[in-house]
Amino acid sequence: MCGIVGFAGKERAVPYLLNCLTRLEYRGYDSAGIALSGQRGIEVTKRKGKLSVLTSELMSKKQSQSQCGIGHTRWATHGAPEEKNAHPHLSSNGYFAVVHNGIIENYEALKRELISQGCKFSSDTDTEVIAHLLEKSYCGDFLSAAKYTLSRLEGSYAVAVLCKDYPGKIFCSRWGSPIVIAKTDKGNFISSDVTSLMEYTDEVVKLGGGESALVDSEGIEFFDKDMKSIERSPEKIQWSVEDVGKKGYEHFMLKEIFEQKDTVSGLVGEYVRGGETSFPDIKFSDKELFEFERLIFIGCGSAYHAGLAAKYFTRGITGIPCEAETASEWRYGSVPVNEKCLCVFISQSGETADTLAALRKARDGGARTLGVVNVVSSSVADESESVLYTRAGPEIAVATTKAYTAQLVTLYLFALRLAKLRGRISSAQQERLIGELLRAPDKIGGLLKTLPEKMKALSREYYTSEQMYFIGRNTDCAAAMEGALKLKEISYIPCQAYAAGELKHGTISLIEKGTPVVALMGNSALFAKTLSNVKEVKSRGARVIALCSEENYGKSTDFCDSLIPLPEGGEFMSCLFEGIALQLFAYYTARHLGCDIDKPRNLAKSVTVE
Ligand code: G6P
Repeated sequence: MCGIVGFAGKERAVPYLLNCLTRLEYRGYDSAGIALSGQRGIEVTKRKGKLSVLTSELMSKKQSQSQCGIGHTRWATHGAPEEKNAHPHLSSNGYFAVVHNGIIENYEALKRELISQGCKFSSDTDTEVIAHLLEKSYCGDFLSAAKYTLSRLEGSYAVAVLCKDYPGKIFCSRWGSPIVIAKTDKGNFISSDVTSLMEYTDEVVKLGGGESALVDSEGIEFFDKDMKSIERSPEKIQWSVEDVGKKGYEHFMLKEIFEQKDTVSGLVGEYVRGGETSFPDIKFSDKELFEFERLIFIGCGSAYHAGLAAKYFTRGITGIPCEAETASEWRYGSVPVNEKCLCVFISQSGETADTLAALRKARDGGARTLGVVNVVSSSVADESESVLYTRAGPEIAVATTKAYTAQLVTLYLFALRLAKLRGRISSAQQERLIGELLRAPDKIGGLLKTLPEKMKALSREYYTSEQMYFIGRNTDCAAAMEGALKLKEISYIPCQAYAAGELKHGTISLIEKGTPVVALMGNSALFAKTLSNVKEVKSRGARVIALCSEENYGKSTDFCDSLIPLPEGGEFMSCLFEGIALQLFAYYTARHLGCDIDKPRNLAKSVTVE
């Protein structure tokens, strides 16, 4: 993770750098820093903590008039979140300043080599080797030094560099981690993502892997991996600047929860035509889709939970053997795949390092690959054979909400497509299932009117809990895992999620008088089974919060302390509604606790390291 920015224009650079960094803070907020290029050299200011600390520091100093600089917001990987490890990093002689997103895997060997040549390191980061390599290889030509330095790096990087001898110029390059570049009437920008630039432009160039650029106030020169000049054309940004504001909500997370009615209706509008699922851009023929014998859903965090739900509903309606795997585990196992196996890579950002590595492994192993991705032209989208975009728009809160819901809906529509092609559902069944999906936005709209007050009241009762358990079966189990993750990531309450039937094999020993258990029972086919687990925990003193369909409400009342009725959802929709309810529960719990909801501690939205 980490966010990097650069600005070269005809106005003071600091306000532009800080503004862009504000929009990139979701990528990390352990420290922030900027380096400014001037006739007298490079001036660095960096501070531990959130961007606001750096901003106050800059406001208290004499305002720099520099019109060119680079900036960074950090999520610590190598080296603790301290000021000495904050970027930018300077070379020993102060000639080069570097900001970096990614991991230099061979930095220890490079550091030993550079120390033996007399370099003095002032941080514990992997990044600092880049600054020293630039200094050591510099003979007056910035691009040659950059070319040599990049050739020595292993791992992933998006870097931006200032050189004292080239005032007003920024060199940047990427391998693995993203960089976008924009030419605007304010000046020219580089950034880790488009959301930080949407205030200034509606088109960017996405730098390709191994490509570099030299940016100044007059223009941008692009280079291939051999530093030969190349032409690059900008592409239109699909999102609008309004999408990246809070629109009057107290937090991005709340705004994004409330956007879910539109997210679902937009997706259904996109992928359902004339009562049929329709994926005009998918690169697999119907014959190929028909012939897949195995599906593996792979992702990290919430994207993995979407994959887990997809495993249950896809297997259920298509009859195809399905698996769900976390990318960080799958990439290291020995898993045989072949051309009859479709690996589905689920990712909001499309930049998650483990997901990307798993994708490359699947491809190398001969599997077919499909990305289910939110960010257009991101690495997972580009490197997958085909992609289905989840079209949730920009998501800023670190805890995902609408993008997760969009993954569920996209995967469900894809499952319906496969089921129809394989003759597993009749036209009448398809019509009924799609009809349910077409009614989902209104149901979500209804839920978003009634649930917030209910969940706010419920969270008031439970926000002081020391721990919480979440249980459910099949798709409800996936929703339980996502609900537990949501609550722990933003409220820091330890939570565990279990397949409801597994609780009795050990974990039930932890249930005692007053232990909160959230039981997900929306999937009506499994309601009675999960209710029996509810009775087991209830008889051991648990306080049970249950989520079930309106029609099962009456059957649960005697065994639950709190009941949240949801619309009837069948095998798929129950986890969609449960997800939204638990997002609100997590949100209000974190709010009662006074947590930093949009930027929870130790986390970042886009995890571009292993
Ligand atoms: C981080 C985020 C999670 C997200 C996961 C995968 O951990 O905090 O919300 O689910 O990464 O991200 P991706 O962009 O691949 O969906």
